[in-house]
Amino acid sequence: MAVEKTFAIVKPDAFAAGYAGRILARIYAEGFKVVGLKKLYMSKVEAEGFYAVHAARPFFGELTDFMSSGPCIVMALEAEGAIAKWRDLMGATNPADAVAGTLRKEFGASIGENATHGSDAPETAAFELGYFFNGLELLG
Ligand code: RTP
Ligand code: MG
Repeated sequence: MAVEKTFAIVKPDAFAAGYAGRILARIYAEGFKVVGLKKLYMSKVEAEGFYAVHAARPFFGELTDFMSSGPCIVMALEAEGAIAKWRDLMGATNPADAVAGTLRKEFGASIGENATHGSDAPETAAFELGYFFNGLELLG
C-alpha cells in the first residue's frame, strides 16, 4: 500500500470539550505521522468553501454554522493508506452507528457534532490539504 496524506480536523465540539489531546494520542498510537497541525477559527465563508461539496444538502447551513462556531485543529496525517485508515479510526458519521473504539463513538455527540473530519478520497484529500496548508507547512 502506498504512503499518502489525508486531511483531518478536530472539530469545534471536540476542541471545546478538551478532547484534542486524547484524539492526537490516538493518532500517534495508530501510527500516523503528523506532518501538519494548526489551530484555527474558521469563518462562515471559509467553512462554506471547505464543505462546498455539500452546498445543496439540507444540513449545509447547520454544518457551516457549527464548523465556524469555535476553534478547531486542522491536520495533515501521513501513513500507508492514510485516507481509509483515518476514516476507519473516525468511525461512522453518526456516532450512534460508530463501532466501539472509534473516535466518533468515544467523542462524538450527534450526527452533526461528531468530533472529527476526514477526507474521503484522494481528490478530496488534495483539495482539503491545499485549502488549509501550503507546501512549506508540510515539509518534513
Ligand atoms: P466529514 O466530511 O465531516 O468527515 O463527515 P463524513 O464524510 O462522515 O460525512 P459527510 O456526509 O461528508 O457529512 C459532512 C458532515 O456534515 C454533518 N452532517 N450532518 N444533520 C445531518 O443529517 C448531517 N449529515 C451530515 C456531519 O458533521 C458530517 O460529518
Ligand atoms: Mg465527508
